[in-house]
Amino acid sequence: MQEKIAQLRGAFKDALSAAKDAPALEALRVEYLGKKGSVAALMQNLRSLAGEEKKAAGQVINELKTGVEQAIKAAGEALAEAELKAQIAAAKPYDVSLPVRTPHGSYHPITLVQREVERIFVTMGFTVEEYPEVVDDYHCFEALNIPKHHPARDMQDTYYLSNGQLLKTHTSAAQNSIMRKYGAPLRAIFPGRCFRNESIDACHENTFFQMEGIMIDRDISISNLIYFMKTMLSEVFQRDVKVRLRPGFFPFVEPGFELDISCLICGGEGCPSCKDSGWLELCPCGMIHPRVLEMGGIDTNEYTGFAFGLGLTRLAMMRYGIKDIRDFNSGSLKALAQFEG
Ligand code: PHE
Repeated sequence: MQEKIAQLRGAFKDALSAAKDAPALEALRVEYLGKKGSVAALMQNLRSLAGEEKKAAGQVINELKTGVEQAIKAAGEALAEAELKAQIAAAKPYDVSLPVRTPHGSYHPITLVQREVERIFVTMGFTVEEYPEVVDDYHCFEALNIPKHHPARDMQDTYYLSNGQLLKTHTSAAQNSIMRKYGAPLRAIFPGRCFRNESIDACHENTFFQMEGIMIDRDISISNLIYFMKTMLSEVFQRDVKVRLRPGFFPFVEPGFELDISCLICGGEGCPSCKDSGWLELCPCGMIHPRVLEMGGIDTNEYTGFAFGLGLTRLAMMRYGIKDIRDFNSGSLKALAQFEG
C-alpha cells in the first residue's frame, strides 16, 4: 500500500510539471481528485486493510490528497500570474510623464457666461459679491417682504434643511446682507446657484444659476434698469437684442416687471425652449420695495434702487444655443467639452 502511494506521488509530480496550461491542470485534477480518480481508488484499497495499518495508510492518503489539491491550486495561480506578466510585457509601454497633446478640461458654459456678464457689469462700476447657498428664512424671504405663510412663498418650492435653514431659492437672498454691508449708494451683482423643487424638463431644473444685481442711489428709476440690461445683453450677444417688459409680481419690488428677450434659438418662431411663445423670460426685475430698503438700513427718503434677477442658466442657453437645460448638470463631457474658454 505504502509503495502504491509513493508511486502515485511520484507520478503526480511528473504530471504536474508537464501540465502547462489551465485545461491540462484541470485534467490532472480530475485524474487524481475526481470521484473515479486515483486518490479515490486508493481509498477503496483501504478496505482490504485493518487496524493500525489501515489507520496509518488512511492518514498518508489524506496527506497525499491535500498535497495534490494544494499543488494544483498553486500551479493554477502561478499560471495566471505568468499570463498577466506576459500580457503586461506585450502591452505597448507608455510614459506617464509625457505631456498630453491637447489640454483636457474646459470651463462650464455657465461659468463662461457668468464671467462675461461680470466683466460687463464691472466696467459699469458694479462690484461682484459672493453669498452662501445655505441661507436662513429671514434672508431668503422675510427681509424680502415675504412674511411667513404669505402665498408668495408658493412661487418657490423650497428645499428646507433639517436644521431650519434652506437652500437659497433665488439670489435675492443676498440683498439684505449686501445692503447692510455697504449702505447706499451701491452697485453690486451677485451670481449664485439656486435650488427649487421643480419637475425637470427641457426648460426647468431644480438646480440653476441666477445673477442678481442691485443699484441704489439718488434718482434711480426703471429707465436706468432698462439701460443697464440692454447694454449688457447687446454685449453678450454682440447684437441688438429685442426685449420687452411685462408687469410681474414679486413682493420685494414695486413696480415689478418681467424682462423677456426674443428667443434666439428659434428666432421668435416658437420652440420647446421658449414654450412655443417666441419669448424667453430672462430677467425679472423692478424697483426695490421701500420696505426692503428699510430692512437693509437704507434711507428711503434719499435713495431708490432697482434690482434684477438674471436667469444665468437661461442666458447660457441663449448664448450657446443649448436646447435642453438638463445638459448643464448632466456631467456629459460630450455636451460640455465643446465650450472653450
Ligand atoms: N428673485 C426673483 C426670483 O428668482 C427674481 C427677481 C429678482 C425679481 C430681483 C425682481 C427683482 O423669482
